[in-house]
Amino acid sequence: MTAFKALLIEERDGKTGAGFVRMDENQLDPGEVTIRVAFSSVNYKDALAATGAGRIIRRFPCVGGIDLSGIVIKSSDPRFQEGDAVIATSFDIGVAHHGGYAEVARVPADWVVPLPAGLSLSQAMALGTAGFTAALGVVRMEENGLRPEKGPVIVTGATGGVGSLAVDILARRGYHVVALTGKESESAYLKGLGAAEVLLRSSLDLSKIRPLDRARWAGAVDNLGGDVLAWIASTMEQGGTIASIGLAASMSLNTTVAPFILRGVSLLGVDSGYIREPYRSGVWQSLATDLRPPHLDAMSRTIPFAALPEIFSEYIAGKAKGRVVVEVGGA
Ligand SMILES: NC(=O)c1ccc[n+]([C@@H]2O[C@H](COP(=O)([O-])OP(=O)(O)OC[C@H]3O[C@@H](n4cnc5c(N)ncnc54)[C@H](OP(=O)(O)O)[C@@H]3O)[C@@H](O)[C@H]2O)c1
Repeated sequence: MTAFKALLIEERDGKTGAGFVRMDENQLDPGEVTIRVAFSSVNYKDALAATGAGRIIRRFPCVGGIDLSGIVIKSSDPRFQEGDAVIATSFDIGVAHHGGYAEVARVPADWVVPLPAGLSLSQAMALGTAGFTAALGVVRMEENGLRPEKGPVIVTGATGGVGSLAVDILARRGYHVVALTGKESESAYLKGLGAAEVLLRSSLDLSKIRPLDRARWAGAVDNLGGDVLAWIASTMEQGGTIASIGLAASMSLNTTVAPFILRGVSLLGVDSGYIREPYRSGVWQSLATDLRPPHLDAMSRTIPFAALPEIFSEYIAGKAKGRVVVEVGGA
């Protein structure tokens, strides 16, 4: 059996750390589909998992990487054949099941989707969980009635992975996007993705959030949680829709029911992890077509597999910008 390289996350003396090891197929978790991994990506969750900054890993040791794209080597499920180009993201991948930071992965067939026509294996990982989640948020908000003519949509954590992709996807669909960021220097980047306005987080007074404030947003994609989400709730238009995606600032939410019962605001929870069909392949299909972010290549950079461990601190420090693709075995 040929050995392959993997980034294994382990816990020793209560401390979490990640390092490269050699593994073989016998050490992989059960699954019907074995994949030669071409690319993976870096998400905030990957950084929390690999550094232990968040209690993300549910089973030690675990190969990291919540996303992967590659070519099927073996499949005992009739939906996939040797040679198929596929994507696998979410579920237990990289947190309770050996993940995409390995040259070979084995996963249950239900977690695998075919690579949509028009996307390369590398572009699929430029999208990754971040793209899937941003698109799922847009789909859920539009199902709830959001349309460009209803008013502006605010995107928080705008320079991050989910944020950049949400700005790009919404702007392409004709929304007036307001990008909220902590990075003063990234205004041109956000406008380049299609943001009509850029708002600095430092310009908000989050010390006194009123139950209801001046209504400004028809929609919101929130990656931060905490006071920013509370402020958004209080500034939503009548009938507005919030997609709650992330907790990069805080897990807490201290708000009142006023926006929900007096303005009919909807707070939609977006969970990319365990959402199943028809959303899963439907959203991936849309990412290659009507929800395709036009600036995907411009917002992404590729790093070699060997450079992976050094990158996580950028994410924990809130410095991430755009998307990072990891070249594991390459196309
Ligand atoms: N619900 C789901 O299924 C799902 C799926 C994917 C991701 N997520 C969550 O969504 C969030 C974004 O994920 P991501 O992969 O896009 O992360 P990312 O690339 O690391 O981007 C996060 C962005 O949030 C802002 N930020 C970071 N730390 C902050 C802090 N302490 N206070 C305020 N703002 C901060 C920064 O943007 P600015 O400087 O521009 O503000 C940063 O670039 C994470 O919480 C992640 O866990 C959830």
